[in-house]
Amino acid sequence: MSDRYVPTKDDHFSFGLWTVGWAGKDLFGDPTRPVLDPVEAVHRLADLGAWGVTFHDDDLFGFASGDPAGEASREATLKRFRSALDETGITVPMVTTNLFSHPVFKEGAFTANDRSVRRYALRKTMRNLDLAAELGASTFVMWGGREGSESDAAKDVRVALDRYKEGVDLLCEYVLEKGYRIRFAIEPKPNEPRGDILLPSIGHALAFIYRLEHPDMVGLNPEIGHETMACLNMVHGCAQALWAGKLFHIDLNGQHGPRYDQDLRFASADLKQAFFLVDLLETAGYDGPRHFDFKPPRSEGMQGVWVSAAGCMRNYLVLRDKAKAFRADPEVKEAMEAAGWPSLAQPTLAPDETLEQFLADRSAYEGFDPSAAGAREVNIERLDQLALEHIMGVR
Ligand code: GCO
Ligand code: MN
Ligand code: MN
Repeated sequence: MSDRYVPTKDDHFSFGLWTVGWAGKDLFGDPTRPVLDPVEAVHRLADLGAWGVTFHDDDLFGFASGDPAGEASREATLKRFRSALDETGITVPMVTTNLFSHPVFKEGAFTANDRSVRRYALRKTMRNLDLAAELGASTFVMWGGREGSESDAAKDVRVALDRYKEGVDLLCEYVLEKGYRIRFAIEPKPNEPRGDILLPSIGHALAFIYRLEHPDMVGLNPEIGHETMACLNMVHGCAQALWAGKLFHIDLNGQHGPRYDQDLRFASADLKQAFFLVDLLETAGYDGPRHFDFKPPRSEGMQGVWVSAAGCMRNYLVLRDKAKAFRADPEVKEAMEAAGWPSLAQPTLAPDETLEQFLADRSAYEGFDPSAAGAREVNIERLDQLALEHIMGVR
């Protein structure tokens, strides 16, 4: 294997503890792998060239309700974890809260019909924000896996959105009050585990953000698998998030079309989409973490887990190289011109052109020949074929 694709910390690759640590328990079967000590996960990921680890509170401490015995063991766990971070130089760029595993969240967290559950979920999150700040994380992901329902009889969704907004507003206030340098990233998902999840897509979440009290503090953490489950185009979604200045974080993985959340290793399912996504992130100047939220298949043993994790990073680096080569290829440049990329970059109105002048321009309408324009060549197939040939490695 070529060592051009060996990741380093400069590549900003991060992994959730719950990814390599997934023991393989699924809806139909028991775990197939042993429990992975977070300390070992940190060391193994560092050896592979990762830069950061991320986690839910419960990944580290298990579910604890705040009793004194839990507090002592929490401190001990944190101490061991911190040593692993210090020894490896691994950072914690993002932290998130588990508001989905415990039965208390079976009907939602920030949007549960039960008010005491909502209050508890917010306190659990605030507690975890303290830890995020302590560990230097700058992003706090909110994946509302249990916010939603199986039936439209469950709740008035408009009211649930009021409660969602109230919760996120309060969390922003908490961060401001404490002086933490943390931004929130909402992770949309259409369904699973709930029949339908609130804020199901990038677009829904974006629209929600602009109704908040502190929209500047809240952005997105889109996931390839989730947008694909919703039959949406992840590249277009991320482009819109970038356009809005809202791509705070990203979950990279692989997914074969609209079915259950497969969490395959990055680029292993839709290679072409992965290529264009990497091209987008690299050319748009996205400077956040390249975070992998995948699950090494349950059929693999621990050796397979590390092969899978290494594959995520290697695939990103290979695609980054290919995207660079694609952009540098003179024939691609020429094909982009022929396909009208520079023309799209040109504003539709001339500089200083007024509405009045525009309406007076007879060439724009009265003298325009739609039939001739309808018969023009758009030359996109050629460009797409060139992209494909770069991906397939024949150029
Ligand atoms: C999923 C989600 C989660 C979140 C994680 C971070 O479908 O299970 O992708 O893995 O990313 O909970 O908030
Ligand atoms: Mn997911
Ligand atoms: Mn995710």
